[in-house]
Amino acid sequence: MERSRVLLDCDPGIDDALAILLACASPEIDLIGVTTVGGNALVEHETRNALAVLELAGATHVPVAQGCARGLIKDLTPAADTHGPSGLGYAELPAPRTQPLAQHAVDFLIATLLAAPGEITLVATGPLTNVALAVRREPRIVHAVQRCIIMGGAFRHEGNMPLRGEYNVWCDPHAARIVFHSGLPITLVPLDVTYRCLFREADMQRIAAQANARSPIVRFIADATRFYIAYHKSAQNIEGCAINDALAMALVFTPDLVTTEALYVDVETGDGPAHAATCADFWRLTGRPPNMRVALDVDAERFMRLFVARMIALADA
Ligand code: RIB
Ligand code: CA
Repeated sequence: MERSRVLLDCDPGIDDALAILLACASPEIDLIGVTTVGGNALVEHETRNALAVLELAGATHVPVAQGCARGLIKDLTPAADTHGPSGLGYAELPAPRTQPLAQHAVDFLIATLLAAPGEITLVATGPLTNVALAVRREPRIVHAVQRCIIMGGAFRHEGNMPLRGEYNVWCDPHAARIVFHSGLPITLVPLDVTYRCLFREADMQRIAAQANARSPIVRFIADATRFYIAYHKSAQNIEGCAINDALAMALVFTPDLVTTEALYVDVETGDGPAHAATCADFWRLTGRPPNMRVALDVDAERFMRLFVARMIALADA
């Protein structure tokens, strides 16, 4: 089996943590590094979370590099209501035995990508601050990346940040604009598809029933998603929780889960009511060529079956 070499830039964050677990559970993926960026929690807490989740999954060999603490222009807006003060909901993991690299995430991304041109898939599931700075610092990475899968944006979905924004883009719309126009081979995974991938209590019961009940991984998923499900119910009256970042990670090895369209996409960086909105030229009115592919449909049931099966396998490993 050809394994995909993956770098994950993330802000763990409950669904980022589930994306890390999915990467570790999937033989199709060789996770070669994780970088953190301020978003759902303070970047120091996210780095600890990334190290702790990798340790939980038996993947302490995967290096972690800490990145930017806040956006290029905007201050950090942590999502403690969504992911909890720690960033992992009700889950409590032991302090990690490993340390992050001394190297900054931006430098780690550049060095790793340039050392293996055309071989690495970059998955980004947090604000795009690190990726934007990497592109600005070393434009050659644009053509070194094999694929760039980004969880972000909302088009025919109302968004999750005021008034039309999606959190990752909303935290740093200036970085998103740099990345979207960089020439990176982007597949964008917006809320339009991720909010159809809802992890429900029934999915947790399936994992608990079929996996080793004493597995700390089962306990972690239960405690993290219990917080996340409660947030989705109270804030958005949704049954279940959108595991946005896990879907992005799944596209590394099952790209046919989604249907994509080549589109020209831009980001609103002004301070009006549409601040941070992602805008697609669906009717090709601008005459501008597409700058990415956008996932607009998803086989959500197949993805949820895949995710649950991989979590059971990881817990039993
Ligand atoms: O809007 C959802 C995205 O914002 C997810 O990546 C979540 O983890 C937060 O980073
Ligand atoms: Ca995230």
